[in-house]
Amino acid sequence: MQKVKVITHANLALIKYWGKRDTTLMLPTKGSIGLSLSALETTTYMSSNKVAKDIIFLDSRVISEQDNPITKFLDAARSLLGINKYFSIDSKNSFPTASGLASSASGFAALALGIDSLCNLNLSMQEISILARLGSGSAARSVYGGYVFWDQGKKQDGTDCYAKQIFQPSWWPELRVIIATTTQSKKEFSSRYGMQQSVETSPTYTTWLNKSQGRIKPLLKALEEKDIAKVGAITEEDWTDLKEVMLTTQPSLNYWTTTSYAIIDKVIALREQKKINCYVTTDAGPHVKIICLADDAAQIMQTLGETQGLVSVIESHISGNPTVEIQ
Ligand code: PMV
Repeated sequence: MQKVKVITHANLALIKYWGKRDTTLMLPTKGSIGLSLSALETTTYMSSNKVAKDIIFLDSRVISEQDNPITKFLDAARSLLGINKYFSIDSKNSFPTASGLASSASGFAALALGIDSLCNLNLSMQEISILARLGSGSAARSVYGGYVFWDQGKKQDGTDCYAKQIFQPSWWPELRVIIATTTQSKKEFSSRYGMQQSVETSPTYTTWLNKSQGRIKPLLKALEEKDIAKVGAITEEDWTDLKEVMLTTQPSLNYWTTTSYAIIDKVIALREQKKINCYVTTDAGPHVKIICLADDAAQIMQTLGETQGLVSVIESHISGNPTVEIQ
């Protein structure tokens, strides 16, 4: 029986996706730009089953058949692609799952790539991105390595809503992301729930939406020019505005802990007092991601290392493209 091994990476958004215009097709309200992170890796083994049943292991734990997002995704994929196959899946993350480190992005991207390979579909990368999107929005970006833009598209059927690689993984070899993790626990509010609450209840959602959409062109230019100060400033601004959206959502989405805030303060102090180019962003969780250049990484990591409550500090490169190996 054919088996595939797929390696994918989490994709960190510099300009975030937060909110859907269609919750079934996972069509976002706006575009986003992300980087794939070598340090946050997902390894997924996948084969097709003789029985009409999916068997799923995530981080060595069996996932019950009923009402889980992975089975829902596989059902959606079967229906979209017109296939009648069921799968055995064994997926492991090199980092805490569902804690705000984009495990759903790398996980569903791996499943989309695995299905394409196991079912000999020969889908285009656009089609694989569309398929991955049905599992989790950010997974549309994780089907690529390097630098990725996910366009929100205009069509109601989502056929123009997929991600594209904008720069190869090797584009800017000095760029680094430092990941400061603060917990191994799962997040309190899933991003799926949280983002729709924000769309419906946050008074600052529309302001963020318009400003964030307007940041796409300047960020593309800053990435092209490899301008760390601009890339960092745009990233941090987008996160600062999104944080306001999250905090003013009802119920308030307060993903951050005192450890997160202590890390954020240290990064800002390093920048303001020591003139180091380091900039903060976070996702739907307490971990802090710092955008910087290779030469400054050691000093930043050393400064953060003394923070109370810090679990780990990891230096990540921009990862290569996902790999699919037939076993
Ligand atoms: O793809 P989801 O449903 O896990 O949502 C991801 C949301 C953020 O990580 C906060 C932002 C993003 O663009 O990745």
